[in-house]
Amino acid sequence: MLEKIVVIGSNGQIGTELVTELRKNYGDGNVIACDIRRPDYDIKNAGPFEFINVLDKDILNQLFRKYKPTQVYLLAALLSATGEQNPKLAWDLNMNGLLNVLELALEYKTARLYWPSSIAVFGPNSPKDKTPQYCIMDPNTVYGISKLAGERWCEYYFQRYGLDIRSIRYPGLISWKAAPGGGTTDYAIHIFHDALKKGSYQSFLSADTELPMMYMDDAIRGTIELMDAPKEKINIRSSYNLTGMSFTPEVLAEEIRKHIPNFKLGYTEYDQRQAIAASWPKSINDSQAQQDWNWKPEFNLSKMTVDMLINLKK
Ligand code: SER
Repeated sequence: MLEKIVVIGSNGQIGTELVTELRKNYGDGNVIACDIRRPDYDIKNAGPFEFINVLDKDILNQLFRKYKPTQVYLLAALLSATGEQNPKLAWDLNMNGLLNVLELALEYKTARLYWPSSIAVFGPNSPKDKTPQYCIMDPNTVYGISKLAGERWCEYYFQRYGLDIRSIRYPGLISWKAAPGGGTTDYAIHIFHDALKKGSYQSFLSADTELPMMYMDDAIRGTIELMDAPKEKINIRSSYNLTGMSFTPEVLAEEIRKHIPNFKLGYTEYDQRQAIAASWPKSINDSQAQQDWNWKPEFNLSKMTVDMLINLKK
């Protein structure tokens, strides 16, 4: 079958790399990049681009009518830290954006839909170590609340209408191609930029704050593998736990020092993001994804660090 793939939120940290990869697999003309902002990279020249505000139902409807997508990736969202600065907008965008797309996916018979969730669905009373797929979930950020509610809607649309929707609870995503989007885990990207530029970094998370993370190459591969997996293998219709590695700022700094021996890590005074990080898991149990669709990360801390430094140096 000829695929027509729409990626909403194509200019973000994930979208930038996902569009490139999908275009490699399916052909430039078959992957439609969509964003509310003008793309400032070659995505626009390589294939179709549409200005889309996911909250504008008419524009969104026109998009579905024009392309009749077989697959839709909905990536537009406000992340954890930015969301706390504007809780109402975060709820509106994250929730109503999803509901708008779910409705249109049904109406236009989209074969497969992808929507990302996050480790932010867990909260202070979730188990911190090797957090399981099913446990207490009491998110206390508006981002986490919207992601947990979104997961329930996804499962509801699958059970009630048979919509083939797939999702991953991403940990912190580390990448060098596009800037991160205002999350709590962004320190793990800034640290590389500053290590190369200044030889030092001031972390807004404390030395021992351990969080689950993943290199973007793994995240993109995992996402596409999940979307390509046979329908009957997908046992989770809310969102899959997934992880690559876990580390603290101190451990990451030690790894960076293997390449930049004089790298200095300092810490800022109190930052609101510390409280968010403290409510999240330290590590994730992703055995369900391993079982269902053979998930396996390729990047550990040392391999990721080498790759980040090589690419950022260029
Ligand atoms: N990286 C995201 C954030 O920090 C987690 O989903 O908001």
